[in-house]
Amino acid sequence: MRALTWRGQHDVRVEDHPDPQIQEPTDAIIRVTSSAICGSDLHLYDFLGPFIDDGSILGHEPMGIVEEVGSEVSHIKRGDRVVIPFNISCGHCFMCRNGLFAQCETTQQTENGTGAALFGYTRLYGSVPGGQAEYLRVPQAHFGPIPVPEGPPDDRFLFLSDVLPTAWQAVAYAEIPQGGTVAVLGLGPIGQMSARIARHHGARVIAVDMVPERLEMARRHGIEVIDRNEVDDLGDAIRDMTQGRGPDSVIDAVGMEAEGSPGAHLAQRMTRFLPDAAAAPLMERAGIDRLAALKDAFDIVRRGGTVSIIGVYVGSQDPLPMMQLFDKGVQLRMGQAHVKRWIDDLMPLLTDDSDPLGTEDLTTHRLSLDEAPRGYEMFQKKQDGAIKVVLQA
Ligand SMILES: NC(=O)c1ccc[n+]([C@@H]2O[C@H](COP(=O)([O-])OP(=O)(O)OC[C@H]3O[C@@H](n4cnc5c(N)ncnc54)[C@H](O)[C@@H]3O)[C@@H](O)[C@H]2O)c1
Ligand SMILES: [Zn+2]
Ligand SMILES: [Zn+2]
Repeated sequence: MRALTWRGQHDVRVEDHPDPQIQEPTDAIIRVTSSAICGSDLHLYDFLGPFIDDGSILGHEPMGIVEEVGSEVSHIKRGDRVVIPFNISCGHCFMCRNGLFAQCETTQQTENGTGAALFGYTRLYGSVPGGQAEYLRVPQAHFGPIPVPEGPPDDRFLFLSDVLPTAWQAVAYAEIPQGGTVAVLGLGPIGQMSARIARHHGARVIAVDMVPERLEMARRHGIEVIDRNEVDDLGDAIRDMTQGRGPDSVIDAVGMEAEGSPGAHLAQRMTRFLPDAAAAPLMERAGIDRLAALKDAFDIVRRGGTVSIIGVYVGSQDPLPMMQLFDKGVQLRMGQAHVKRWIDDLMPLLTDDSDPLGTEDLTTHRLSLDEAPRGYEMFQKKQDGAIKVVLQA
């Protein structure tokens, strides 16, 4: 089969790989019909090289048609239309029973000290081949795959793999009081959907980005927006809009930016000359994060408010403004999305023909798998108005 293959920094190629086979009775094989590129893939594309093996297949936002199931998979069968959650969870361990699917103890990567295995996401998360491919082997398929109805186009359901449950969790963790206000930092796909979901729940939403078409997309979904480049002090600008207090909640949907910080770039240049085993710890210590958005979040949130961090941060030595956090009494929530936990909340909105979350207005580019390398470049450089790129069979 053909699959999008990681070959190095800014170097992904579509190459031939053996077709995946059922290996465990709990596996399934799906034929991928749509597979999205995520902001998290940009971290791999750009600077997580020391954590990923040359030749890895990327992608964790796939959907498709079931080709084959193992003997212990009974909720789906050949020919069913399914969406695959990005985290691989068993459904029956302690963590799964508590809805903490991103911490599944059956697939947890104990030797790395990380949570549940993820599709297409580095050695830290199990080196599981990803879904930007013609076919995908789905481990723990007795639990993971989400059956979806025939009819609407793939886009209606595709984002159940990551963007929608992630955004739903961001909003849930933001604990916005009834009639309250939330600021959403970052208007990539995660920020767009967090803003729409918060608004759907009745909150006032003020969203921040600096890319004109991303601001425009939010605006047309009824979100108030601030262009980060047009205000001197974001905190003051938002306080001015919120009775001087700041919003009840802030969602950080930026995370470590694909561009990284100047320090990260230095560490990254140095690691290029080291073998991976030496480079990985250096990258971790250097802290490849840019904390600008997170620091904004702490500044903006009102006293006693909640910050929900859904953007990914991975460094281990990031200085945080602990004094400010403590003094303001801020509540912090964060983590990988527990995808399956939010599906029952989302599904009625997706099967509603009025499409209240506007799922069909997120994808800006539909490309074939063969065009995936261009899709990565375009998404990373925000060229041609790219907001969400979907690879279609
Ligand atoms: N927690 C999870 O389970 C989970 C799941 C999916 C994605 N993510 C993470 O969410 C983040 C966003 O993903 P995405 O696909 O929307 O990515 P993206 O790169 O498209 O979006 C990031 C947006 O932030 C904007 N931005 C950059 N710096 C900013 C700043 N200082 N203030 C305001 N906006 C700023 C960018 O212009 C961009 O529009 C990434 O870190 C991704 O890894 C987390
Ligand atoms: Zn994703
Ligand atoms: Zn589990």
